Amino acid sequence: MAITLKDEIAQVARVAHEELSLVQDSNALEQIRVHFIGRHGKINELMGLLKSASLEEKRECGPSLNQLKQEIEKALVDKQLFFEQALSNSEIERASLFDVTAYRHESLQGSRHVYTQIIEQLEDIFISMGYEIATGPELETDYHNFTALNIPLHHPARDMQDTFWMHLPHMLLRTQTSSVQVRAMETKGAPIALFAPGRVYRNEQVDASHSFMFTQGEGLVVDKNISVGNLIATIKAFLRIIFEKKDLQIRVRPGYFPFVEPGLEIDASCPFCSSGCSVCKKTGWIELMGSGLVHPEVLRMSGIDPAVYSGFAFGFGIERLAMIKYGINDIRLFHSSSIDFLKQF
Ligand code: FA5
Repeated sequence: MAITLKDEIAQVARVAHEELSLVQDSNALEQIRVHFIGRHGKINELMGLLKSASLEEKRECGPSLNQLKQEIEKALVDKQLFFEQALSNSEIERASLFDVTAYRHESLQGSRHVYTQIIEQLEDIFISMGYEIATGPELETDYHNFTALNIPLHHPARDMQDTFWMHLPHMLLRTQTSSVQVRAMETKGAPIALFAPGRVYRNEQVDASHSFMFTQGEGLVVDKNISVGNLIATIKAFLRIIFEKKDLQIRVRPGYFPFVEPGLEIDASCPFCSSGCSVCKKTGWIELMGSGLVHPEVLRMSGIDPAVYSGFAFGFGIERLAMIKYGINDIRLFHSSSIDFLKQF
């Protein structure tokens, strides 16, 4: 017996209802939609057959085919809503179970950066010796960074430090914390004893021991009868604490800095060996800082009478000091954010 249009509609209705009752997710639902009511789907196929059917069949099957189409469309919408609701319920449930106070024992503990640690140690040492801690701006005037330090315009000593100049007249990123000396002498006068740690900038090629941005520590004492003896005793005292070595020795060599006279380079006996090692490159000595007695002209420019007062100043790289103290072989590690590096401190 030939299959009638009515039978075909009934058959499609059975399959559609069965598939819709079993569907598990939105992707499968979309496939059902395409299969039944897509442009080339089963319903349109039956509509095509209906067009060429007899008048009697049209009357009988037309309404049932339309009804089937509407049933499938409604079921598709209901199922889609159901899936969306289920998804949102599971997200709400997950959120309600999320414990913001949960503590994971194995998570990494933070620690203070090696910079913070060594700067605090230096500050403690100098405060204990009666110094105050001073700061100054990193965006500095030409006057405070150079001129007031006895380095006038066009003086060749300006080339000793390759400077980042601003697009503002006479402004630069300070190249040395010696600018803080000038500001402190101008505002506080003498006597004065200060330690100024701070960031400085130089337009230099970066390598394992040079950075374009690094930190210096600057010491300044101005009082009556200050001598090179005071300078050496002070440097010796603070280095012995930093390197935890009571018998650390100091060696003084002549050095040129326009703002001190005499200018001295200070080396320390290697804290790690007695006969030469890789840190001191087998010399037994480590270069540590520049220093000297404050040039009378510098005192005068900052309003201090050099006939009454004298002073000493010294400046060193804090990274370089930390590199020697902790055996760090590359200055770039300080800004690397490397967890392996940071967790050692
Ligand atoms: C100065 O900057 C003088 N202001 C120091 C001074 C102060 C002398 C007071 C006399 C009296 P110098 O350019 O040498 O000097 O730098 C001081 C220290 O900074 C160096 O010994 C070194 O430890 C460190 N340093 C210099 N350039 C760099 C760099 N590119 N990267 C890291 N550290 C540096």
